[in-house]
Amino acid sequence: MSSVRFLTGITTSGTPHLGNYVGSIRPAVRASLTPGVESFYFLADYHALIKIDDPARIQRSTLEIAASWLAAGLNPEHVTFYRQSDVPEIPELTWFLTCVTGKGVLNRAHAYKASVDKNQAAGVDADADVTAGLFMYPVLMGADILMFNAHKVPVGRDQIQHIEMARDMAHSFNHRYGEHFVPPQAEIEESVATLPGLDGRKMSKSYDNTIPLFVPREQLKKLINGIVTDSKAPGVPKDTNGSALFQIYQAFATEAETATLRQAYADGIAWGDAKHMLFERIDREIAPMREAYEDLINHPARIEAILRTGAQKARSIATPFMTRLRHAVGLRNLGHLTDSNKPAQTKAAIASFKQYREKDGLFYFKLVDAQGNVMLQSRGFESPKVAGQHIAQLREGGAAALDAMQSQLQPVSREEAGLVTAALAALAAT
Ligand code: TRP
Repeated sequence: MSSVRFLTGITTSGTPHLGNYVGSIRPAVRASLTPGVESFYFLADYHALIKIDDPARIQRSTLEIAASWLAAGLNPEHVTFYRQSDVPEIPELTWFLTCVTGKGVLNRAHAYKASVDKNQAAGVDADADVTAGLFMYPVLMGADILMFNAHKVPVGRDQIQHIEMARDMAHSFNHRYGEHFVPPQAEIEESVATLPGLDGRKMSKSYDNTIPLFVPREQLKKLINGIVTDSKAPGVPKDTNGSALFQIYQAFATEAETATLRQAYADGIAWGDAKHMLFERIDREIAPMREAYEDLINHPARIEAILRTGAQKARSIATPFMTRLRHAVGLRNLGHLTDSNKPAQTKAAIASFKQYREKDGLFYFKLVDAQGNVMLQSRGFESPKVAGQHIAQLREGGAAALDAMQSQLQPVSREEAGLVTAALAALAAT
């Protein structure tokens, strides 16, 4: 594996705020600069249609989010930055995945379940006002991820379930049609702060307590002055615990700067002065980006061109991959009819166990894929029978057997374990 692929999407349903910046834009832009990382960032505008039926708002949000990412330093030359709806292979893959996803799995998706629970509490039909789009949300997201075989998906905790579902979709598809997808993993940044909003609760559009990322300087000052504090007078020591102002400051400041503010709290800094410090600190980081942002917003055709180039890059992967997937599921050119006498051949060719004896006199086995690459390697056993028993356990027990047998096997990475699990599942099905 040459490089690790990161991918994340941003739903184009609003205006980026400081919480988005600290929680997702800033860490993602930094991560995109890491050597050995291949990054995919996209504007999830198909997802926005699930929540928003105001076309002008979708368009505006797409523009604002794209401009924000670019202004924050995302380099479209180094990453693949595109708009979901420019890649028609994604909705096509959504259908393929729809056909391997259990309806019951989707019934348990948090967002859908929350709507159902709400309806039930209100005594109305469980699915009242629930669109099939909301129900299918996780599948569209699975297609976003699997289309590019991303290894890691940086997301908030609320999205972990969706990544797990995408893993399951990868396994189900691979199980039926052979090794095509890498099961992705959620990447949760523990150190990234969740920013409080104006009222002290988590900064979120749904609480209407956000500070937009790129408001003019004067407006930023006004908004910061509106952050809740307690009513302690100047000169009275203040508590940093539970202070929204302090937490926001910390998300922008160096450790030394934070220590200075902590001391100022202890010394009874006036709230007005603390707010001024916060404003200046944020503005110092944001001001240069704000200029770039305004320039981009005033030249939307430039953003459009960047996104189209990004879409070409994305499709240079998606189009051939989709051709392969179409063939895998049987959507094929009738001019090249496959031999119907060998229907199970693709499955059987996926992987196989090989048993052998080494010079040390011990008996080993390995699992090799169709190309002969070793996927799994055992340690040595005293007899061929014991080695054979282990193989039988793996064939029957799949992932669980693999876990239980760790000590008998040479270590595999989690990603390889995913491939091995899928291969075992495919073998079990033959
Ligand atoms: N559902 C994500 C959110 O609301 C956005 C998203 C759509 C996404 N597709 C994705 C995130 C694929 C990561 C990967 O935050």
